[in-house]
Amino acid sequence: MSQPLFEWNEEYSVGNLEIDHQHQHLFYLINEFYESIKAGISDTELARSFREVVEDTRIHFDMEETLMRNNDYPGYNAHKAMHQELLKKIEVFDTRIQAGDKDVAADLLPFLIGDWLLHHIGSMDQLYVPYVADRYVD
Ligand SMILES: [Fe+2]
Ligand SMILES: [Fe+2]
Repeated sequence: MSQPLFEWNEEYSVGNLEIDHQHQHLFYLINEFYESIKAGISDTELARSFREVVEDTRIHFDMEETLMRNNDYPGYNAHKAMHQELLKKIEVFDTRIQAGDKDVAADLLPFLIGDWLLHHIGSMDQLYVPYVADRYVD
């Protein structure tokens, strides 16, 4: 495969190995998703790949929220609200995909790459770094 377009790099590190691994995996999944849409993916395959992104995003948000809560991150409520906002948008996309909406990819990719990876992981998640660096989820 060619060089991934949206690659995780050290700038995105939150100083916590478990979270960094999950972020790396999300970058990988979304990159794969992008590549397969470009290569002409079937509707069934699109729905299946998106499901994987949705499931892993949910698992990731839960873990991040536990970690922030356990370490008394003061921005916890606001951050959790942002996760819920992203999940709401993801559900709307999911409904469109299930309905076989042909135009969904054109809206979905900028959302996944822009809002989700670059904006949320790239900047919002950075704010909790001093609270979660080197802490473990228990
Ligand atoms: Fe995150
Ligand atoms: Fe987050």
